[in-house]
Amino acid sequence: MVKIAPGADQPQRAMDPHFYTEREVFEREMEKIFSRSWLFACHESQIPAAGDFHAFMAGDQNLFCIRNAEGKINAFYNVCAHRAHELVSGSGSKKLVTCPYHAWTYDLDGALRRAPGSEHSPGFDASAVCLTGVRTEVFLGFVFVNLDDEAPGMDESYPGVRADLKEFLPTIERLRPIHRIDFTAESNWKVAVENYNECYHCRVVHSSFATGVVKPDTYNVVPNGSSFRHVAESAEESNYDYDKSSSPHAGEYSSFYLWPTFSFQIYPGALLNTFCWRPESVDRTPFFREWFSVDGAEDPMVKEVAVQDAETTVAEDLRLVASVQRGLKSKGYRPGPLVINPDQGLNSEHPVAAFQQLVLDAIGE
Ligand code: FES
Ligand SMILES: [Fe+2]
Repeated sequence: MVKIAPGADQPQRAMDPHFYTEREVFEREMEKIFSRSWLFACHESQIPAAGDFHAFMAGDQNLFCIRNAEGKINAFYNVCAHRAHELVSGSGSKKLVTCPYHAWTYDLDGALRRAPGSEHSPGFDASAVCLTGVRTEVFLGFVFVNLDDEAPGMDESYPGVRADLKEFLPTIERLRPIHRIDFTAESNWKVAVENYNECYHCRVVHSSFATGVVKPDTYNVVPNGSSFRHVAESAEESNYDYDKSSSPHAGEYSSFYLWPTFSFQIYPGALLNTFCWRPESVDRTPFFREWFSVDGAEDPMVKEVAVQDAETTVAEDLRLVASVQRGLKSKGYRPGPLVINPDQGLNSEHPVAAFQQLVLDAIGE
């Protein structure tokens, strides 16, 4: 396979289509990217009390996080240490985790408490059995996991993001999710994430975003290693009725994309919303958006904006990425040159180039 690198006088080209269509590449990404990167689990406020749990996919692995008696959030592979039945599904609360198959029971720290009949099984040592834990970090209230115990921590993986987020959105640690909308991109996850990370298409496709949310001419994306910072000024005719005194940046838009599949996005008015993509197969990527308010206060405006965003910007992007995925299978497609302005700005695909380089570096191309 050929490494895509720009020649001295040749613009960098889009990645070869096989990266988006071959199952073997997807499996390699599960191993080389999703087994080593920080992946979002849930907001800590969604599991407030001891025994509250939330099951989720991290790459191709089924996990759950659960709060223990001391208030710490543990994460485990969602699999029984007996004969591999899944332990929990969805969200809820349990004093102990009992497997639905043969009722082996674990405590909130993953130790085996009870295995019916095992007292009559010679040599059975319950103390040698426990669930397999997964590393977690709570980042400004957001719970992330990493399947790799050796991976650098979040502050090392995304330098400066914690401080920049707090500076941009001083209330972030008080925010709680109050609204969630689920979607499915009929595309490879990279098509969806590339689309997210460039605004070259915004004026063409997103009239509502480009007139009611941001001033497109001010849009820029600044890649910084594994995180990309998006910045823009708020639209003149903003869709949002907001109080600029609530935040020093209430009149701005910003987002913080965290490689590979999460983004904190702040709409004008200090309105936090997030993206979490959960790639399921080479050409199907479920994702969800969550919307936040201070202390989780009910706010009909938040829901209104969330629905409007789903019906305009997200719906528009879903059509784009599905079409691109079909196009990537065309025998007539040769990867085109990317439009890269050394001064960056709206009409520059430098973040696409930076993202593709992260992919190629990670999967060893
Ligand atoms: S597989 Fe869980 S108790 Fe048997
Ligand atoms: Fe878009």
